[in-house]
Amino acid sequence: MRRRLTAVAAALLVLVTSCTGEAAETPEPSAKQRVEVFSWWTGLGEADGLKAMRTLFEKQNPGFTFVDAAVEGGSGDQARALLASKLQANQPPDTFQGHAGAELQGYITAGKLEPLNFLYDELKLRDAFPPQLVEQISVHGEIYSVPVNIHRSNVLWFNPAILKAAGVTGAPRTIPQFLDALGKVRDTGKIPLAIGPQWTVVHLFESVLLGSLGTRTYNKLWTADADWNSAAVRKALTDFAAILAMTGPPQTDWQPAAKQVADGEAAFTVMGDWAYGYFHNKPDGGLGKTSKTDFDWAASPGTEGTFMWLSDSFTLPRGAPNREGALAWLKVAASKAGQDAFNPLKGSIPARRDADTSLYKNYLAWNLGEWSRDELAGSIQHGVVANDGWRAAINDAVGIFIDDPDVAELQRALVLAAKNSGQ
Ligand code: GAL
Repeated sequence: MRRRLTAVAAALLVLVTSCTGEAAETPEPSAKQRVEVFSWWTGLGEADGLKAMRTLFEKQNPGFTFVDAAVEGGSGDQARALLASKLQANQPPDTFQGHAGAELQGYITAGKLEPLNFLYDELKLRDAFPPQLVEQISVHGEIYSVPVNIHRSNVLWFNPAILKAAGVTGAPRTIPQFLDALGKVRDTGKIPLAIGPQWTVVHLFESVLLGSLGTRTYNKLWTADADWNSAAVRKALTDFAAILAMTGPPQTDWQPAAKQVADGEAAFTVMGDWAYGYFHNKPDGGLGKTSKTDFDWAASPGTEGTFMWLSDSFTLPRGAPNREGALAWLKVAASKAGQDAFNPLKGSIPARRDADTSLYKNYLAWNLGEWSRDELAGSIQHGVVANDGWRAAINDAVGIFIDDPDVAELQRALVLAAKNSGQ
């Protein structure tokens, strides 16, 4: 079969060559055609959503060539570092993914983004998105990005068979129940809690902080009334230490950690709902697993009724080499069709309020319901509540804690990080 295809390809090449008189080479797209889209969605699961939106973009814009400038690495730590240096050198991509909230505000105040009010007017976008979300991407009435989704950070993913074998009945709803379940799983010889690189520990940290403090106190941490030195924060950090002690060997990224759960090696992982795309998608982009049988989910312990949110949004950098091309991409990202192509595969729900809800099944249907009812809290690791400097300082503090789990030291570092945040 393969040989036959090769022969057909060779014949076609001869045909093209004889028609044009030269070998058929795809010409490099010109600067006016290239649309460089910067993200970090290269990995299994993640890349599927981007591919679906790219396909739509290419169909609607035959004059433009999509150039995937994604940089590998979950949560974009590497991508964001490279982006910062590109922006610093005034060499922006045509458009990049920036999280709604404090992260985006940083780009705005640094003067790196063009306001998009004209696009919001043209496409009547002001009513398409929830007003609280538009607030997170605006400064002084100017709107600076197009949110493509809502992701949820506080999800406890688990393997139902491992829980059953360990005598754990149902997902733990509180932190004490979680610790009890982790201990029971450890006694069976399975990994209690799968973990990846440092950022996944910060991801776990934000869920534990929310679960231990409660929504009101957690939300206060990002305001002028914050008290990082409180006994409640100390208790949350003690909970975090106990949970961290139950993690398995760190995996290279969030996908291999999630795979340990799907493959029956680990009972739990706390990860954003991009994990759903990875568990569920098939055949090449994910594991093709079945909801509720191979994997199951619940709000991370102590956070029921609260949605720890983040939102991926696309921007128009000042000085984008192909401004027209970037706007064409933003139009697709803003559209109902674009969001409904992207999100079911990405594992997120649409930022638009008029999306076709029948496309969102299993976990996504559950999550749409939660989004409509829950209280809100913002993610730390994924750019909502803390600006980039503050997030980096929290990351450093947690990184040190992984090697030396000294609660008092971590609290001191967090107090200092808040004080120096300039936020
Ligand atoms: C987040 C991003 C998500 C997902 C995740 C894991 O920061 O918002 O879309 O990509 O990282 O890579």
